[in-house]
Amino acid sequence: MGKIPVAILGATGMVGQWFARYLEDHPWFEVAALMASERSAGGVYGDIVKWNVDGDMPGEVRGMKVHPIDPAVLRSRGVRAVFSALPADSAFVSERLLAEKGFAVFSNASAYRMDPKTPILIPEVNPSHISLIDGQATRKGSGGYIITNANCTTTGLAVALKPLQDRFGLRSVVVSTYQALSGAGYPGVPSMDISANVIPYIPNEDEKVERETRKILGTVTARGTVRPGQFEVIASCCRVAVRYGHLETVVAGLGKDFDEKGVRSALSGFRGAGCAGLPTAPERPIIVRDEPDRPQPRLDCDAGSPARARGMSVTVGRVKKFGGKLRFYLLSHNTVRGAAGASVLNAEFAKKRGYL
Ligand SMILES: NC(=O)c1ccc[n+]([C@@H]2O[C@H](COP(=O)([O-])OP(=O)(O)OC[C@H]3O[C@@H](n4cnc5c(N)ncnc54)[C@H](OP(=O)(O)O)[C@@H]3O)[C@@H](O)[C@H]2O)c1
Repeated sequence: MGKIPVAILGATGMVGQWFARYLEDHPWFEVAALMASERSAGGVYGDIVKWNVDGDMPGEVRGMKVHPIDPAVLRSRGVRAVFSALPADSAFVSERLLAEKGFAVFSNASAYRMDPKTPILIPEVNPSHISLIDGQATRKGSGGYIITNANCTTTGLAVALKPLQDRFGLRSVVVSTYQALSGAGYPGVPSMDISANVIPYIPNEDEKVERETRKILGTVTARGTVRPGQFEVIASCCRVAVRYGHLETVVAGLGKDFDEKGVRSALSGFRGAGCAGLPTAPERPIIVRDEPDRPQPRLDCDAGSPARARGMSVTVGRVKKFGGKLRFYLLSHNTVRGAAGASVLNAEFAKKRGYL
């Protein structure tokens, strides 16, 4: 069987480059088109992109021309699915347009995450949420649809909370974050602002973490929408001078009594039903470390195996019980588990479920 031709929207940006890396030699998908703004359109990818991902630019995209977003170009290349790394405002227009034209859109942008008929999908966590797309008007018409992945901070948090919710129930979540610079795209935060500094504010981030976590961990109703998880989330998000990897401290109120051993076993035993055999699914979605000084961005960002799932595992450490509350730290790779890798995994899951 031939590979499915796909396109990257926002291919020249931070997440777009990670898509190019993640789709290199993918067993099911091949990059057939690269798209960005009018600023980049007409240029050759290898000439105009300031490559910012570790390792060399993949050979398969180096000589490709960058196009503006155009369904006709996508059709001429046989593209059926697009990976979107567009800013939210242009995603709002272009993703809807492409879904209307019959394309499957796998989006990193926030534009449609809170739409009642659009899932924020993490296949290990909420596989049933993919059914939301059956309610999208475009799916009933042209067949196109939009599936989003969560904000890069929310993803690691939701993965770590899922086995705790299943085994103990969740009452409250207080999360404080130490977020990498790459989460702000390229060139991102000015060096004069972040050098020798921590910035205790990322626009709209606290709110995104609060509402997206509850949607992801909610349940699909008979009306084909999501009833959010019935627990409180309070998020305090900071930017720190780290290149990749969002570190988070979590204090959770659980629904029943627990001990640290039971929490460790729930976390490390979590596998994520339904992802077996997907090329980008990590064998262990959560890796629990016992060392007192882990996880760290530099040491744990790339956790995950097999090789294609590098960076897809969430690392948890410093698990401790304080009275009725649980405290732990987690780390996840923001541009992989929180962006490009997450979208590619969503597309693999959609294919497995017959949506692609
Ligand atoms: N960075 C992360 O860790 C992360 C994680 C999760 C989600 N996200 C989300 O992913 C999206 C991309 O983030 P990023 O960090 O990659 O941003 P970025 O580095 O600023 O890249 C933005 C990309 O979008 C293109 N673009 C901008 N306006 C456009 C338009 N009107 N039409 C077509 N293309 C346009 C840019 O093309 P030009 O080069 O031609 O301007 C560039 O390729 C955002 O929605 C962001 O919130 C980011």
